[in-house]
Amino acid sequence: MKIGIFFFDLFIFMQNFFFVQPEVSKDFVNCKHCFFQDTPPYLNGLTEQNSVQICQRHRLLNRYFFAINYNSVHRIPYYSAYLIDSFDKGGKRDSFWYLEPQLAGTDPSFHPHIVKDNNQQIYKDSQALNEDYRASGYDRGHLNPSFYHNETKQARQVTNSLTNVAPQVRDFNKGIWNKLEISLYNAMNDSCNFAGAKRYFITGAVPSSGTTISNGRVNVPDYFWTAMCCDSSGANEPSKKMMGWSAAFIGGNIDNSSIYVYTIEDFLNFLAKLLFSSHPKLFADYYIGETKIRNCLFNQTQASTMVNGIIRDNDRFENKSLFN
Ligand SMILES: *[C@@H]1O[C@H](CO)[C@@H](O)[C@H](O)[C@H]1NC(C)=O
Ligand SMILES: *[C@@H]1O[C@H](CO)[C@@H](O)[C@H](O)[C@H]1NC(C)=O
Ligand SMILES: *[C@@H]1O[C@H](CO)[C@@H](O)[C@H](O)[C@H]1NC(C)=O
Ligand SMILES: *[C@@H]1O[C@H](CO)[C@@H](O)[C@H](O)[C@H]1NC(C)=O
Ligand SMILES: *[C@@H]1O[C@H](CO)[C@@H](O)[C@H](O)[C@H]1NC(C)=O
Repeated sequence: MKIGIFFFDLFIFMQNFFFVQPEVSKDFVNCKHCFFQDTPPYLNGLTEQNSVQICQRHRLLNRYFFAINYNSVHRIPYYSAYLIDSFDKGGKRDSFWYLEPQLAGTDPSFHPHIVKDNNQQIYKDSQALNEDYRASGYDRGHLNPSFYHNETKQARQVTNSLTNVAPQVRDFNKGIWNKLEISLYNAMNDSCNFAGAKRYFITGAVPSSGTTISNGRVNVPDYFWTAMCCDSSGANEPSKKMMGWSAAFIGGNIDNSSIYVYTIEDFLNFLAKLLFSSHPKLFADYYIGETKIRNCLFNQTQASTMVNGIIRDNDRFENKSLFN
């Protein structure tokens, strides 16, 4: 029996060994396409500290799937940036977790591998390991959700990097945060599923000042937030070019949490106070002739319609500020 399990593990190990290939890429040079207007967010006072920029690639497809800004001291991501590429259904979640050997500054050509590998102690300094979470009572909460990527197995696999997760209260992860992820997915499917549309997300974790797991190794965030942008600038049909919209959402990492709903503009003011950041920016300005589109807000009417629809999805999606 034991031998059987060993060979099964070995088989899975071999299968996954070469596949998920993240790459430390200064300023996200290789995955700028993960950001609206190819422009990463500007969160000054925050993300320049202990920040490592990772482009998530899958070796089999040789393509960059998403971007992670990782805090190597708190050992959680500042944020993950990703798109919904398609609304295809089907597919299973990958059940393995991955590490990013390159964060340890080891040979950059060294292949990443799954967490079961015995060498994981080598990577311990620069990132969280599976064992940090195991007895912690917290979930490994995905920032870039696996289920947004039902199009391919590889697209789901890359979300299972331990650099794409942070300790999340189980009730929050399985409860209201999951409901939010589903609502946003459906809202994008309803409103942003036309030829040429792009669906950008940035999901972040706000570190706590001292709550940790695993003897202080991994920070337990106070909040999880997500900002979304339906980019209609590339719409094939001229009548759809101004149908884009945006919104932001934040919830406390606690039992029975609520989700607070914002415009990006209001959320940036809130974020500035929360993160002591001046003039933060999530989505770059975009010009159509003389018209400046700020915060990916192409169409205010459409934004209000969609956001009000989301708020009605759940009693705990709150149409007010977190601190009022
Ligand atoms: C997306 O919307 C279409 C049309 O409303 C619907 O038929 C389809 O099931 C939705 N897809 C998903 C994955 O929910
Ligand atoms: C993705 O596939 C899984 C497994 O088949 C399914 O449970 C889930 O509902 C799908 N998600 C979407 C958004 O279609
Ligand atoms: C969460 O809600 C449940 C059901 O309403 C309640 O039993 C529980 O005490 C609440 N927990 C907290 C921490 O408020
Ligand atoms: C903005 O969106 C509304 C639907 O919410 C639509 O009726 C209107 O035509 C859009 N405006 C532009 C300029 O496309
Ligand atoms: C949310 O608040 C705005 C402004 O106060 C209001 O116009 C809108 O109707 C509210 N939405 C819902 C679903 O209550």
